[in-house]
Amino acid sequence: MSVSTKPAELIARERREVRKLTTLVEIGRILGDTSNLKTALAATLETLGRHHAMLRSFVMLLDSETEKLRIEASYGLVEDSARRVTYRVGEGIIGRVVQSGKPVVVPQTSREPLLLNRIRAHEEHTTRKEISFICVPIVIGGKAAGVIGAELIYKEERDYDRTSKFLSVVAAMMAQALKVRQGIEADKKRLLDENIHLKQELRERYDFGHIVGNSNPMRLVYEQVTQVARTNTTVLLRGESGTGKEMVAHAIHYNSLRSSKPFVKISCAALPNTLIESELFGYEKGAFTGAQSRKKGRFELADGGTLFLDEIGDLDLTTQVKLLRVLQEREFERLGGVDTIKVNVRLIVATNKNLEDAIKRGQFREDLYYRLNVFTIFMPPLRERKPDILLLAEHFVEKFEREHSKRIKRISTPAIDMLTSYHWPGNVRELENVM
Ligand SMILES: Nc1ncnc2c1ncn2[C@@H]1O[C@H](COP(=O)(O)OP(=O)(O)O)[C@@H](O)[C@H]1O
Ligand SMILES: [Mg+2]
Repeated sequence: MSVSTKPAELIARERREVRKLTTLVEIGRILGDTSNLKTALAATLETLGRHHAMLRSFVMLLDSETEKLRIEASYGLVEDSARRVTYRVGEGIIGRVVQSGKPVVVPQTSREPLLLNRIRAHEEHTTRKEISFICVPIVIGGKAAGVIGAELIYKEERDYDRTSKFLSVVAAMMAQALKVRQGIEADKKRLLDENIHLKQELRERYDFGHIVGNSNPMRLVYEQVTQVARTNTTVLLRGESGTGKEMVAHAIHYNSLRSSKPFVKISCAALPNTLIESELFGYEKGAFTGAQSRKKGRFELADGGTLFLDEIGDLDLTTQVKLLRVLQEREFERLGGVDTIKVNVRLIVATNKNLEDAIKRGQFREDLYYRLNVFTIFMPPLRERKPDILLLAEHFVEKFEREHSKRIKRISTPAIDMLTSYHWPGNVRELENVM
């Protein structure tokens, strides 16, 4: 190096340094505006392009879910195709920079077999000159969260180490901006989670399960459920078959103070009269032929919780007497047993029968009726709450979609008309089957 050329080179170098500093100040200003980070990153790359002859450049960020690097902003690339490019951690030079957290400089890309060239492959070479590629990590909290990649025209005399350090400073500034954004997003997520949590709590407090319907008759039902749930009052549910009596029984239990205790159901219609007593009260070993061991009845199993006696109108007269005694004294004996068993059970009963008629015909005991008829909820038939039909139909379509992972088209207008004009003798159960 001759003495006369040195000052000129020094001046040139100084000029380059000043330009770099000016760029950094500008980038600092650009990235300071985090309202739209993507735009800020793109503007940063553009500045590098304009002032530092970086022909093409990009910022790739690691997607924490897919563990893939994806282009967040680019300069000089065909954007549509660039957006589709992805790298895995450790894959190619870009993937390695993220893995190691260390910059890589490839002065002559034509000589680098490791270069996957996925990004450049998407666009025409604008120059036949040899290209250099520099890739530096964007490090947040000691871990690479992405990279800046940049292409320059190859120059033998270029100080690649300095250029790489310069890009690293830009990357550090980007990291800072990303960190701020992450903080904002974490705050947002926390607020969102909190909101979801509160809603959940609210739902749990007034959980009507999956009961659908907001017609006036149903609102009355919800009101009554809320009113009675937290008491120990016996509830009588009346209404046609398929109107949702069992659902309401569930809702009462799960809104009661007994919700963590068992909800035990028994249908008086499903069992022959001889069996129903042993099911309700249990039996001792040897109580009858076939009673090979002691068995607890539903009353005992429901201890502390709720016993739901469905189709109570079908209970035979002798069992009615026994049930009445349990209700009066809160105690009973197992079949064939002598020990008196005390239980703490809340009773919910349901029927679609006209109990008053049954009393007249001598099929239902009046004294039991008065014991059960303390708090009665009438479930309205579906034809008397037309506004709920569409809601329920949509609910069942969605349920069906979920269960069968299928997409179903919306219900057509003629179909809606048909659904709402039908009189639905089987109520919601029938609607569910039809859907
Ligand atoms: N309001 C409702 N919202 C959603 N599903 C309902 C509703 N009412 C009833 N169903 C459904 O209809 C069917 C019959 O309900 P169920 O409670 O067994 O009626 P019931 O005991 O009065 O015969 C069940 O599959 C239930 O899930
Ligand atoms: Mg039922």
